This record gives sequence, C-alpha cells and structure tokens, in this order.
Amino acid sequence: MIKIDQSDLIKWLEHVRIYANNGKVVDYIPALANQQPETNAVAYYPIGGELIFTGQAEYKFTIQSISKVISLAVALIQHGDQAVFSRVDKEPTSDPFYSVAKLEVEKPAKPFNPMINAGALAVTNMIRGRNSEEMVGEILKLVRVLANDEQVTYDQDVAQSEYETSFLNRALCYFMKQHGVITGSIEELLEVYTKQCAISMNVKQLARIAAVFANDGRDPDSNEELIPPDVARICKTFMVTCGMYNESGTFAINVGIPAKSGVSGAIMGVIKRCGGIAVFGPALNEKGNSVVGIKLLEKLAAEKMWSIF
Ligand code: DON
Repeated sequence: MIKIDQSDLIKWLEHVRIYANNGKVVDYIPALANQQPETNAVAYYPIGGELIFTGQAEYKFTIQSISKVISLAVALIQHGDQAVFSRVDKEPTSDPFYSVAKLEVEKPAKPFNPMINAGALAVTNMIRGRNSEEMVGEILKLVRVLANDEQVTYDQDVAQSEYETSFLNRALCYFMKQHGVITGSIEELLEVYTKQCAISMNVKQLARIAAVFANDGRDPDSNEELIPPDVARICKTFMVTCGMYNESGTFAINVGIPAKSGVSGAIMGVIKRCGGIAVFGPALNEKGNSVVGIKLLEKLAAEKMWSIF
C-alpha cells in the first residue's frame, strides 16, 4: 500500500471536481434539492495516524443510505446474524435501490439485501425500542461511538421532508407487512428510517466511521473494540457486493474497496488495515452515486493500489 498524504487529496479533488457537471443533485427528497453541485470535500482517517482532508471539510450533509450499514450493525449486535438473515437475504440485485420488483421473487417477500431500501426498512424494523425515539436512539448511540462525537444527530428538516414524501418506501413497507416480513406501525418505522437517513456529519466524521471498519471494528486510535469483528466483516462484505447498488460490480473493478454511497452525494470507503475515506459531492450519476466521489476514488485507488482484488 502506498502512503497517502494531503497533497494527494488536494491534487485529485482539483482534478475531478469538474465531473460535477456530469451529474445531477437529487430532488426526490425536497430538502436535498437545494444542495449545491459544486460543493465537494474529502477526508482520510488513517489507522493510528493523523486525519487529512481538503475541500469543504466542515460542510455537514446527511448520510442517507450510508446509515444502512450502521443500522445493520445495530441489528446484528442486538439479534445475531441468524435472526437478521431470516428477515433479509444476502444477495445483490441489479435493480435500483428503491425497486419493488424483487419483492415478488421470493416468498415471503424477503428483501434481497440490507443495502436496498426494502432490506434496510426490514432491518430498521428489527431495532429494539419501545417507540421510534428509542429506536433512533440505538442507531445514534452507535454512530456517536464510531464518529467519536457525542454531538452527531439528525437533520430535522431533511428527515421531515423525506417522511412527508416517502411514498415509494411506504409502498415497500406495506408490501412487506402484508407478507409478514415487517411488523408494527409503518408510520413509526418510516419515522425511524427517515431520521437515520438524515443523520448529519462532515467528511472528517464519516472518514472516522470508515476507519473503524478498516480496523475490523476497532477504534482507529485506541484499538478498542467498538463493533464485534464478525459484524464489521458482514457489513464490509455487503459494501462490496451491494454498497454502490447496481453499480457495485463496476465499482469493484474500477476501485475495488468496500464502500457505501448515499443520495446526498456522500461515499465512505474502507481501505483494509490502512484507513477510512469519505468523499462528498452532491452531483449524482443515474445510479444515485456521487460522480465526483467515484472519480476521486478511482484515481486514488489506482495510484495507491487500494483494490482488494
Ligand atoms: O430511502 C431513500 O430513498 C433515501 N433516504 C436513501 C437512499 C439512498 O441514499 C440511496 N443511495 N444512493
């Protein structure tokens, strides 16, 4: 592995920022539609080293689908893998993240994996708590430990905006409830899910979360165990097979690291035993992944020989 320093981040972000012109800011969540396509930032959090970053590294964005990795970790810690995989499968789909299509393939309506919306909703439905507040609290508790920041919370406006417009996610929930894959109040589940997606942070905090996964679930500074290694391993495997949705195969060839994207334009990437990287750029390609983020990771992965394959 070739050492990475701040001049690498500056050089490559400068080189790829122009690609923002090829993408489009998401607008199906109204509160995200006013994100500026030219905003960009990158941070790298090495295991046992010093954080480096460039761009608008203080800018806070919502993590959206990246939260699916955290909620999966919470469900696995609380219930174990057998219980979780009785509700959701482990296979990639070649469909978009919001797709309903595959729910009719298996009986009973078991979502293919926890990274697509259907699977993530089924996983969040498992999280312990007497009400939505306690369930969100469980997710925030782990996020705060991973980011090493007690202040991390969700963006109320983005959560509310998605909650009011989540018609497709409601449809997925009703379909799964009919088939007994999820239970309880759908409105309460959507409240938890939209809040977890609206968890807000900057690239420095997200890079630290990625670094914990790079260190097999251990704190990148103290080496204390924060997530059981098996849970970290399962989460990283899903990042490889499903983390970039129906672009996961191309990403595996072009970059070759476990990664997870969100429609806000963030991507977190895991460089095993080395560190965590987080990129932000809200202009998205047609698969819902950050164009600047993908380009930057392609360049860095090639130069630093990051691919695990
Ligand atoms: O449920 C949704 O549609 C969003 N809250 C999250 C989707 C997402 O981030 C997909 N990522 N690329």
